[in-house]
Amino acid sequence: MDTPLVEMSNVDLSFDGTRILKGLSLSVAPRERLVILGQSGSGKSTTLRLILGILHPQHGSVKFKNEEVTHMSRAKLNRMRQKIGMVYQYSALISSLTIRDNLALPLEELTDKSREEIDQIIEEKLAMVGMEDTGERMPSELSGGMKKRIGLARALVLNPELVLFDEPSAGLDPVISSVIDELIISLTEKANTTSIIVTHEMDSAFKIATRIAMLYQGKIIEEDRPERFRRSENEVVKQFVEGKTDGPILENKKS
Ligand SMILES: Nc1ncnc2c1ncn2[C@@H]1O[C@H](COP(=O)(O)OP(=O)(O)OP(=O)(O)O)[C@@H](O)[C@H]1O
Ligand SMILES: [Mg+2]
Repeated sequence: MDTPLVEMSNVDLSFDGTRILKGLSLSVAPRERLVILGQSGSGKSTTLRLILGILHPQHGSVKFKNEEVTHMSRAKLNRMRQKIGMVYQYSALISSLTIRDNLALPLEELTDKSREEIDQIIEEKLAMVGMEDTGERMPSELSGGMKKRIGLARALVLNPELVLFDEPSAGLDPVISSVIDELIISLTEKANTTSIIVTHEMDSAFKIATRIAMLYQGKIIEEDRPERFRRSENEVVKQFVEGKTDGPILENKKS
């Protein structure tokens, strides 16, 4: 068994006294495509921020390649972040910079690549997401779905070992969503990348995942290969997968 790329154990995280994660444990092996499912507000984006070391847990441990993220020096944290690409739920492009300059930023700040090399990488990543020839445009000139794809291209410029996708296909049309799904799959198959994908889109989840985990009430309550996850006997998982209104999920909201 390979050493896990990411290992979270017994993580507790509260915001202003409200416990969001309560003993969450999750391990991700190299070349996996782990999909995390969970209700809105269950802590999925928070979990990704913990891996990046943007947030720190009150208890428990978060390791990237066997190193405790919480204990890393700023320099070490920066080096780790060069190996992790993050596709933000809301694009997070810098509005005063062109698309080209948004993509160039990590390359200029963190590598010593020449202008020509940087331009070539940018063209290649824009082509991967079907956004070639948009380099000179400003983020405000693009639709939400286009910005989302640019956010994905930006996450890939440093050829990361791990890519964290926060709702990569929310708000995209079905054709572009499929393009993104295939891109996520090909990243692992061709480039040896590991991915953690947060999504609400069930079809996409089952298509891309090598493993699916369900976050509920602060913990991972089920994790399995997609075909087994689909047959889960857990009532919460069943309700979520089938999108039904009756079941434990809304019951708990009411109480
Ligand atoms: N910086 C913060 N300060 C205070 N509360 C926060 C902060 N970030 C998140 N929360 C709270 O933590 C909970 C989990 O938020 P999170 O963004 O992780 O949810 P999510 O599962 O990604 O939801 P969604 O599917 O809607 O994106 C929410 O109740 C949210 O209000
Ligand atoms: Mg979120």
